[in-house]
Order: sequence, then C-alpha cells, then structure tokens
Amino acid sequence: VIALNFEDGVTRIIESRSSETLADAAFRAGINIPLDCNEGVCGTCKCKWKSGQFEMGDYIEEALSEEETADGFSLACQMTPTSDMVVDILASSKACKVKSVTHATTILSMDFLSSEILKLVVKLQKGEKLPFLQGQYANLDIPNTGVHRSYSFSRDSGGDVLEFIIKLIPNGLMSNYLRDKVKIGDILNLKGPTGSFYLRDLHRPTLFFAGGTGIAPFLAMLEKLSKHKVKHTIQLFYGANTEANLVELERLNAFKKIMPFDYHTVSVEPTPNHAQGFVNQWITKEVLNAKEYDIYICGPNAMVESVKASFTKAGIKIAHCYLEKFVPSGI
Ligand code: FES
Repeated sequence: VIALNFEDGVTRIIESRSSETLADAAFRAGINIPLDCNEGVCGTCKCKWKSGQFEMGDYIEEALSEEETADGFSLACQMTPTSDMVVDILASSKACKVKSVTHATTILSMDFLSSEILKLVVKLQKGEKLPFLQGQYANLDIPNTGVHRSYSFSRDSGGDVLEFIIKLIPNGLMSNYLRDKVKIGDILNLKGPTGSFYLRDLHRPTLFFAGGTGIAPFLAMLEKLSKHKVKHTIQLFYGANTEANLVELERLNAFKKIMPFDYHTVSVEPTPNHAQGFVNQWITKEVLNAKEYDIYICGPNAMVESVKASFTKAGIKIAHCYLEKFVPSGI
C-alpha cells in the first residue's frame, strides 16, 4: 500500500504489484505522475520518499544527483516499492489528474460524549474502502448547502467504519444539521482523505498535544501504534475548556496498558479531577528531559502557536514538528 501526498494536501492510497514502478502503480489507479522519458534520464518524475522501503532502479546522475538521493529524492518511473510507503509527489493532485472521490456513507450512530461533543460513526457502502494515514481528515458535505466541514478520522483505517469527533457550535451549519435534522441510516457524503498531519515512523520520544476535539487524530494514531511494537515513549498532553469536554479517556487508559504511552489532562475551568490551565504548562526541562523530541500538535490556532512558542522558550530540542490548526469556519 502506497500513500501518495500531493502538493495541495490531497492524499491517495494506491496498491502496487511486485516489481511494478511507483509511476506504473499510480497510473493503474488513474493517477498520472508527471513523466517525460520514463527511463530515469530526465528527472521529471522526481518525488520525495517519506517512509517505507523501495529499490531505486536505474537512472543517470543528470536525472537524480547523489545529494538529492541523500535528501530522500527518488524517481517515480524507476523506483519499485518493497514495503508500504509514503511518498510526496512534487505536483498538485490536479496536475496528476487525481479525481476527487465522493464516498456515500450511512450514519450508524451519533453519541454525545459531552453536551457539545458528538461522536459520529458512519459506514462505507458495501465493498468500498477508504484507506488513510492516521491523523488525516475528510471533508463531510452538509446536505443541500454546497459546503463541507473538515474532521479528522478518530479511528484507525482498515474496515468499512469511519469515526469522527465533532464539536457542535451554536448555529453552526454542520452542527445544526447533526443536532436537528439527521437520523441514523441517513446518507452522508464525504471526500478524502486529505492532510499532511499524519503519523510518521517513531524514531525518538514523541509528544502529542491536543486541544479540544484535536484529540481525534491522536486516537487514530494511538490505535495504529497499539498494533505494533512501540520502542519509544509517547506522551499526550490533552487540554479542553471544561472537564466534560475531555473525552474518550477510557480509550486513552486502554492504550496506557499496552504500550509505552502516558497522558496528562488539563481543563481551563477548574476541576478537582484534572490539572487546571493549558497544555503548555508541562513544557519544561524538568518534565521533558529527553535529548530531543518529535512533536505533533493539533488544536485551535492560538493553542498550536503557544505550544510551539513554549518549546522555544524552554530551550527543548525538537527534531520534527507536525501541526494541524483548526481554522474556525465562522458558522
Ligand atoms: Fe524521466 Fe522519470 S520520467 S526520469
């Protein structure tokens, strides 16, 4: 399975056959990666390897230099994947003629996790699949409006059931639809997967920072990690405005039992059960004393910025930082 990330944030997951080049596998899936010579001579099909294994194939130095190889570049017309891979394609999805796919899903359940937070579970149509990278999102259509809202998948990919954790806002278009109009069994159209906020291979202690429903992508990531042998520690710092909006703690407790994972919760509103304040209160050298970290931050814009600034202030070394900011839709 190969995840192709395009420059405009669109991702497509394709399957490759043995000895098939990446460009051929993509073409079979209806994706035209820009090619010219198709022989490893021109360099037009240059792409960037993010994870997984592959064979480089044959090419000449003019098409791909040694420095480029060292920087993770390779040639889509020559490389043959030998494991699951994630690859950045240096072109937009439009340029590669990637068709946007709408999936008609059936609403299976809607459960309020708090008075403001809804867990929405939908099922794909028979035989359909929607593979994604853990941390990515889908665009859910609001019927009869021509607009959509974006929500991260909060469950690992694989089966035909998708889950989203949604904050309902007063008078929000999607919020009103979900609160007042929708019924179990209704059809909900969605497009995806999309987004460059996804779980990378773990190479060092890793920190997750979640603000509000920014917990959703981390639930999918943790579920994925829980199926593998995790060699590095993962810490989650999870903040919400109220205790009630700190949701899915049972799922987090279950992850704690099966891998080197721990979490800390914080509520803006004082409560006897959680720390009070904001997630960046733990960004100190006393708490975070590893040599360096990979960090993932997902939440409202101000929270993401403040976490980043706290790392700079505390002088804690970050190897890689991945961000997903919520941009308010207005309504
Ligand atoms: Fe020319 Fe791949 S298309 S090197």
